[in-house]
Amino acid sequence: MMTAEKKKYRYAEAAKEIAAVIDGEDNLIARMATVSNILHHAFDHYFWTGFYLVDPNKPDALVIGPYQGSLGCLRIAFGKGVCGTAATTRQTQIVGDVHAFAGHIACDARSLSEIVVPVVTAAGDLIAVLDVDSDQKGQFDEIDREGLERIIQASFS
Ligand code: SME
Repeated sequence: MMTAEKKKYRYAEAAKEIAAVIDGEDNLIARMATVSNILHHAFDHYFWTGFYLVDPNKPDALVIGPYQGSLGCLRIAFGKGVCGTAATTRQTQIVGDVHAFAGHIACDARSLSEIVVPVVTAAGDLIAVLDVDSDQKGQFDEIDREGLERIIQASFS
């Protein structure tokens, strides 16, 4: 695993790159596609990187948004899995071993650890969650939380 310093540096660089690319772009899908692409290619410990959006037609369900990696599940209900838990609680979830998380949804059996960050607008509306999975256990820590929460806040609120 990379050093803490290197990880922090990579998050800072990714944040700058994302801000530069989405500057002036108000379309949400374009912004999410940029965030998932840049993050996914910035870190070796990322195996799947993407957004689940709150479905405007079914406000208690998440539906797949822009992502990078293997085929994702199309829908996740609020309260289900790590993503649904992040959506319900509006709190970032860090899961070191997905097999130890009751109700984890295995879209790809290779995913072993994950972090899910809620996306809340300045108006206080939950619009999505950002889900990042790794194919190794215990890959996400407070540096990932801080780096991702900062990027999500800068990009969507
Ligand atoms: N593992 C997630 C499901 C989404 S995917 O892994 C892409 C969960 O339990 O919420």
